[in-house]
Amino acid sequence: MAILLNVNGEAHSYQGDPMTPLVDVLRADLLLTGTKPVCGEGFCGACMVHVDGRPTVSCLCPVGLAAGRNVATIESLAVDGALNPIQQAFEDLDAVQCGMCFPGMVMTLTSFLEQNPDADRAAIKAALSGNICRCTGYERIIDAALVATKHKERPE
Ligand code: FES
Ligand code: FES
Repeated sequence: MAILLNVNGEAHSYQGDPMTPLVDVLRADLLLTGTKPVCGEGFCGACMVHVDGRPTVSCLCPVGLAAGRNVATIESLAVDGALNPIQQAFEDLDAVQCGMCFPGMVMTLTSFLEQNPDADRAAIKAALSGNICRCTGYERIIDAALVATKHKERPE
C-alpha cells in the first residue's frame, strides 16, 4: 500500500514497509541526506526533523506514522540560498566540527527559538539536552543559538 508523505512541502508516495524508519526513507528514497542517522536508537538527536512542526527523532518514527503529516527536514530551512538565522550563526561562529550533529541541533533550535525567542543560555542548554555533539564541547553551539535569538546576546 502506498504511504503518502508531505516532505518540505512536496507530496511523495512511498511503497514499502510502514515500519521503515522515517530517516531511512528520507535519505534513501527522497535523497534528503541532510538528516543524519547516528545512534539509530533515539539518543543522539542527529536525525531530528519536524513532524507537524514538532521536533521528532526520525530514527524512531516509522514512516507509516508520518503519513499525511507535514515533515520538514534541514533542507527546508534555507530560502533561495539564504540560511536561516540559526544556520547562519553556526557558520559565523564556526560552531561545528565534523557536522554530524549540526542538522539535528539546528532543527531542535529552530523549533525551540520559534516558541522561545527570548531564551537565555540556560534555557537553550536545556533545550539541547537531547542533542549530542561528540566534537565541540557545546559552548560555540550555545553561543550560536544565543546570537540567533532576538536578544542577539553576544558570547563573552
Ligand atoms: S540517530 Fe536518531 S536519535 Fe540518534
Ligand atoms: S560537530 Fe561533530 S558531533 Fe557535533
